Amino acid sequence: MNDLFEKLLDETERRARRIEAVRGPAPGSEGALNDPLDAITALRGRPLFYPFIGSGAGRGALVELLDGSVKWDFITGIGTNFFGHADRQILRTCLNAALSDIPIQGHLEPNAEYAEFLSAVSRIAPGRCKLVWPSMSGTLANENALKIIRAKKRPAFRVLAFDGAFAGRSTTLSEITDSELNKQGQADLGQALRIPFHDPRDPRSAERTLEAMDRHFEKFPGEICAIHVELVQGEAGFRPAPADFFSAVFDRCRRENVAVWVDEIQTFGRTGEYFMLDRLGLAERADVVTIGKLLCGSAACFAPEFNPPAGLISGTYAGYTAGLALGCLVIRRLSEEGHLGEKGKTRALERAVTEKMETWKENGLITDYTALGAMAALTPRRSDLDSIRALVRRLFDLGLCAYYAGHGPYRLRMLLPGGCLTPSDLAAPFDILERGLAPA
Ligand SMILES: Cc1ncc(COP(=O)(O)O)c(C=O)c1O
Repeated sequence: MNDLFEKLLDETERRARRIEAVRGPAPGSEGALNDPLDAITALRGRPLFYPFIGSGAGRGALVELLDGSVKWDFITGIGTNFFGHADRQILRTCLNAALSDIPIQGHLEPNAEYAEFLSAVSRIAPGRCKLVWPSMSGTLANENALKIIRAKKRPAFRVLAFDGAFAGRSTTLSEITDSELNKQGQADLGQALRIPFHDPRDPRSAERTLEAMDRHFEKFPGEICAIHVELVQGEAGFRPAPADFFSAVFDRCRRENVAVWVDEIQTFGRTGEYFMLDRLGLAERADVVTIGKLLCGSAACFAPEFNPPAGLISGTYAGYTAGLALGCLVIRRLSEEGHLGEKGKTRALERAVTEKMETWKENGLITDYTALGAMAALTPRRSDLDSIRALVRRLFDLGLCAYYAGHGPYRLRMLLPGGCLTPSDLAAPFDILERGLAPA
């Protein structure tokens, strides 16, 4: 069987070899995207953001579209495909999983991959959060996190949430999420209590946040069960904050018996450590941590005292057999291939991106940037929503897939394929970025 798999993987590699650099549509295939794009628009009620339909071939950070054109993929399915396209180990794991008797595993009759996933995640999980409950999306991991916290802290049910927060799009999580677009037409049931996130320009930032927390504690005594925290805010445009800011906030939570729920769904594996909590030296401070995206699966990890009563959380699906196996592979490779730590590959990528963005800032091409591990965002001179969307589309036409985030200023956002992208690969895609950013 191994020989057969290797032959199949050779074929994927043969297809990948035709992908060497950014290019336009293959002659004769210029219209190949039109029909499937029209079908998507008609069937789901609105078009894709940009005309991307992959051909199923790719090579590292480069991806081929159905019309034969090739682009840099600097958004990786919004953070899923960290090891890039056509990675042999990833695909071999999928082939092995395909031999399993079942494609999807649940919490009642799992196969061995389920147990291996739990143990791989638990081994690296931060601090006391060694119990693990897998799920099929970040949103469900967060829903499980909230449920187990509420069960432990009942009858408290309200959640402190930062401005700019993103927790998911379920009816409850879209209340915690601070985006009007994500909650259009939804009732506000008062479950989320807003507090200001760290503001690097304000020396009193932490004090202001603590004051806002205190006002909520005073107004809702005994009703606040948790704080939801992204240590680097994702959808808000990659906003980080220093460890002492979070430390002060967590101290106040402890005093008020409020659980610390750290949402690492976007940051997991991406910041140069498994967890941003590790990078900030705060691993011991979390009660519940959620992960997803890059892991190819999702999970809530929690301290033993939060272990929920049977029946509170479950669901039909725990993960695809391939997804559970990929989660274990991703965890192993991040460490074995040297992506983690101060001297690791992710920090080297961060330094290379920082160097380039610093030049752009000095030249006035951008006004601001964040480069943190394989997360990179920049604020162009025109940072209203229409301009930023136009920039994303211009970059797409030039051969680079990125996306946007933030809420004014809006920012260009990239979730880099740090598992395969090295600093020496950056010249060509950064040239595209520079051309896209240049004033017309
Ligand atoms: C911080 C954070 N939490 C939760 C989610 C929701 O995850 P999912 O889209 O897998 O449901 C996301 C997704 O972008 C996220 O960035």
